[in-house]
Amino acid sequence: GIDISKLIATTGLSSYDQGFVNTSSTKSAITFIDGDQGILRHRGYPIEELAAQKTYLDVVYLLVYGELPNSSELEAFDAKLRQHSMVHPNMVKFFETFEPSAHPMAILSSAVSVLSTFYNDSTDPRDPEQIELSTIRLLAKLPVLTAYTYKSLVGESLVNPDSNLSLVENFLSMTFGHLGQDYAANPVLTKALDTLLLLHADHEQNCSTSTVRLVGSSQANLFASISSGINALSGPLHGGANEAVLDMLNFIHESGDSVQKYVERVKNKEDGIRLMGFGHRVYKSFDPRAKIVKAHADEVLRELGVSDPLLDIAKELEAAALADSYFVERKLYPNVDFYTGVIYKAMGFPARMFTPLFAVGRLPGWIAHWREQNADSTTRIGRPQQVYTGPAKRSI
Ligand code: ACO
Repeated sequence: GIDISKLIATTGLSSYDQGFVNTSSTKSAITFIDGDQGILRHRGYPIEELAAQKTYLDVVYLLVYGELPNSSELEAFDAKLRQHSMVHPNMVKFFETFEPSAHPMAILSSAVSVLSTFYNDSTDPRDPEQIELSTIRLLAKLPVLTAYTYKSLVGESLVNPDSNLSLVENFLSMTFGHLGQDYAANPVLTKALDTLLLLHADHEQNCSTSTVRLVGSSQANLFASISSGINALSGPLHGGANEAVLDMLNFIHESGDSVQKYVERVKNKEDGIRLMGFGHRVYKSFDPRAKIVKAHADEVLRELGVSDPLLDIAKELEAAALADSYFVERKLYPNVDFYTGVIYKAMGFPARMFTPLFAVGRLPGWIAHWREQNADSTTRIGRPQQVYTGPAKRSI
């Protein structure tokens, strides 16, 4: 590619690239994507191998520190996260103040912003020790804050983290412990959630990660940058798509209309509707994560003994779209979020919790990118240009 900044400096040229379709904002050694071939690799390892052989925690370590951990490194990392999982008692009160109708993504981004006020000994972006401490604190506490968010949403008392449990077990126990079932000990659930978190762990310069980098480029601290990333993720064209997919499947189910009729409405751009969970800025072929999630959806529903008509509608929609020239010509394939909602629903999560789950999964990617940028002495503050379209000079 062309180094635009050099070109501009030497020629005075400028470029207009709405939505940054063709502009690289950074160099990065974390994640490689080939959208035409449906390839995704973290630090060189294919996502398929990582999903089949490694856990979410392995991948968190890989993204943040650059290499897969050996068993003693993983053990030490796990122990550190357990040690830092408790949240300041005054911070817990915060969760009593929200309206039950509040969207959990708004609660989560606020909670992460507030975290920095309780842990302000780890907010200096120029101090490597503080960066490391805020990294561990965020990784350990975001799942806890997400479980608290769930509890405040359903109006139940908050459950403290238990350092005897792993990150994923703890999360399930803190959310569903009240159901009287030992959710944390259900290997099907823990494995499925672990895999979903792993599949969301990073995806290079997507909207939320670019947001984290842009905010971080002003030397805002990690908490502030991650809180901004959560807000960027909340939109239905990004992380909010998993919730929107379930709304769409429910709508089709309840309307009693055929899948084909819905597809026709999408093609006619009726009310601007899109097939949620379809299409991707980068993948113009199958999203490799979607293939893995689809296989899991069948397995999880079977093992949980859940039969969900929404899964059948999802499969029918996918088949109808893949056979339709509208979607084929535009290279629209299912993305990672097309089937995740069906799995989360089978696990018992309300739809509004789907995007917070995405945030927990994506956190290591955001952190890895923030740290990579922060460690690069050539980083400059992000400051895009614009093409001015307002009035020429005029007088009052
Ligand atoms: N359903 C129907 N048509 C679509 C869809 C869709 N899901 N996505 C794109 N198109 C059409 C557009 O209408 C447009 O057609 P046109 O040329 O006739 O106007 C063409 O495909 C190109 O669409 P763009 O919006 O230019 O594609 P872009 O790369 O900007 O958008 C995006 C990518 C936002 C993911 C888009 O495909 C979309 O809205 N998908 C649905 C939401 C979704 O699932 N988001 C999750 C993304 S993955 C993630 O964040 C984890």
